[in-house]
Amino acid sequence: MSGMNEIDKSKVPQHIAIIMDGNGRWAKRKGLSRIFGHQAGVTAVRRITEACAEFGVKYLTLYAFSTENWNRPKEEVDALMTLLVDSIEKETPDLMKNNVRLLAIGDLGRLPEKAEQKFRNCMSQTDGNTGVNLVLALSYSSRWEITDAVKQIAKQVKEGSINIDKIDEDTISKHLTTNHIPDPDLLIRTSGELRISNFLMWQLAYSELYFTDVYWPDFDKEELRKAIVDYQHRERRFGKTSEQITENSKI
Ligand code: FPP
Repeated sequence: MSGMNEIDKSKVPQHIAIIMDGNGRWAKRKGLSRIFGHQAGVTAVRRITEACAEFGVKYLTLYAFSTENWNRPKEEVDALMTLLVDSIEKETPDLMKNNVRLLAIGDLGRLPEKAEQKFRNCMSQTDGNTGVNLVLALSYSSRWEITDAVKQIAKQVKEGSINIDKIDEDTISKHLTTNHIPDPDLLIRTSGELRISNFLMWQLAYSELYFTDVYWPDFDKEELRKAIVDYQHRERRFGKTSEQITENSKI
């Protein structure tokens, strides 16, 4: 049995996706420059990955850098890239120790060559780990991803390896960068913004959405626990009626 405020271990979301927002505002509130906010954001990433392992969440996908983020001032883009690469390099021994597997989704070819190489090294080093799958969305956007999938499918239709009448939802899913990753059960966005911001738009079709005013650097295990408990009180119907869901859960 679990109380209203405790996590029900039998209903833990398998996959949580997070739009980590509010680093800049967190820093501004403290009179610091934005990069301090991103640094504090890295600490929150470590904290939340550990909490996911503890709660039994298998996939954690983090929106670390969107295709639109390339349009930020060059100093911020450079600082973010350096921070991301340095953090990954520095954290790899701990990822190994904690059995975390690093994955990435997005247009990795747009990253500076050295950065892409370092991510790929970390991914291959951690490939055999069987604990939490930490999926970083890097140079990612849904519109980019769906456009890319359409191009791949169109090419295969042209070459004759896909029959147009056989294209279904599964064909699309298999051509997305999240191929092999289950759809998120829960999407969390921090900092009070109520938007999806071009993140996993195909994959979020039936995800539960949770918005909190807490800025990402302040998001901790207790905030994650609250989000999971809230999720566990939702009824996921996937387009069916409430009666059908209750009936099925009796089986
Ligand atoms: C949004 O805050 C955050 C980002 C654009 C970058 C997030 C990156 C990190 C937290 C580093 C992640 C590190 C690893 C290792 C995955 P914002 O800058 O948009 O904040 P604002 O809306 O308050 O300006």
